[in-house]
Amino acid sequence: MNARAETAPLPLDVERIRADFPLLSRTVHGKPLVYFDSANTSQKPLSVIEAVDRHYREHNANVARAVHTLGEEATAAYEGARDALARFINAPSRDEVILTSGTTQAINLVAYSYALPRLKPGDAIVTTVMEHHANIVPWQLVAERTGATVKAAPIDANGELILEEYFKLLTPEVKLACVGHVSNVLGTVNPVREIARECRKRGIPLLVDGSQAAPHRRVDVQALGCDFYAVTGHKMLAPTGTGALWAKREHLMAMPPFFGGGEMIREVRFEGTVFADPPHRFEAGTPNIAGFAGVTAAIDYLEGIGFDRLKAHEQDLLAYATDAIAALPGVRIFGQAKEKEPVVSFLLEGAHAAHANDMATLLDLQGVAVRSGHHCAHPLMQFFGVPATLRASLAFYNTKAEVDEFIAAIGRVRKLLL
Ligand SMILES: Cc1ncc(COP(=O)(O)O)c(C=O)c1O
Repeated sequence: MNARAETAPLPLDVERIRADFPLLSRTVHGKPLVYFDSANTSQKPLSVIEAVDRHYREHNANVARAVHTLGEEATAAYEGARDALARFINAPSRDEVILTSGTTQAINLVAYSYALPRLKPGDAIVTTVMEHHANIVPWQLVAERTGATVKAAPIDANGELILEEYFKLLTPEVKLACVGHVSNVLGTVNPVREIARECRKRGIPLLVDGSQAAPHRRVDVQALGCDFYAVTGHKMLAPTGTGALWAKREHLMAMPPFFGGGEMIREVRFEGTVFADPPHRFEAGTPNIAGFAGVTAAIDYLEGIGFDRLKAHEQDLLAYATDAIAALPGVRIFGQAKEKEPVVSFLLEGAHAAHANDMATLLDLQGVAVRSGHHCAHPLMQFFGVPATLRASLAFYNTKAEVDEFIAAIGRVRKLLL
């Protein structure tokens, strides 16, 4: 056995894995489903569905408000998800993990609690052209209120960030730098460690939108060296309405609450309310407790597979799908970065041109689910000069046979269109 064979991860038994995902065996319009929309939201394994079901059947109560057994069990489930998330992203402390409804809430928390009180006229926030609107619009909203500006670092034709340009934007007026770990449209993996290093040299905190990274790669916020990292549960096998913001304790301690209400205070008086310490300071109101029971199950599932095995399969699938899509006549692929997660955005041009939405609708009739549109990334569409793309986004539960079926479905759709 050579060294490579010794260290190569065991291949995934994808058929066994697919059996864990009830939805993958359904049909759509009488055809077996080909689900290539996992960057939008992932499908859920039975263990996650059962964790949510079990919560409502056996443990349902509110968190932290009741000393009875059910209340303690619900609190344990909710706080257990914090432990699981902290472990999952290697946070130095569970108290640095704020549970949120997803990435959008996590980034808005940083915008309103961290950025807004610090920004003054002339200040700037840096983001990039390839970001999801969730990593652009919150910054615009707080910039508008304060007289600050939002600057966007450019990308090249391959869909890679032009790092020198990003670094040039890191001037003394910049109060926060932002970047997506992985682009939801292009699949590009951004060099977060390098960006974090440059930000640290200049004393600028860095926020990373990890929505599209956490489902595909091991995230280690300490190794990355960033200040804020946002993840969303629903793209990594967990229920919708779950997510987290990790932030360095020094930032959290200096941040006022974003939402006020129950569960986030130490004492309320009309003369002045004393807020709870992080993380509870930022978790007003009743959270998605059942959803977080599902988050723990989702993390257990992902860790049970192991990211090395998951990655090997996904990268193999990405290469296979990219080659197959590139061979389509008149195709234009968006995003050819050196390091990518399994996302292929494309358009069929020339004689076969059709609006991406029409293509996606016709593909749906063939049982194929892909996303079409601007993918909440208008500036990126503007950069490429197109209104929309078709996006096939894959996950470890997809197969090469599904890629073949997808390509065959495109062939049938084209015949209909000509
Ligand atoms: C890169 C990126 N950021 C943010 C979001 C928004 O995440 P959420 O659905 O958790 O609000 C998405 C979802 O599409 C995304 O892909």
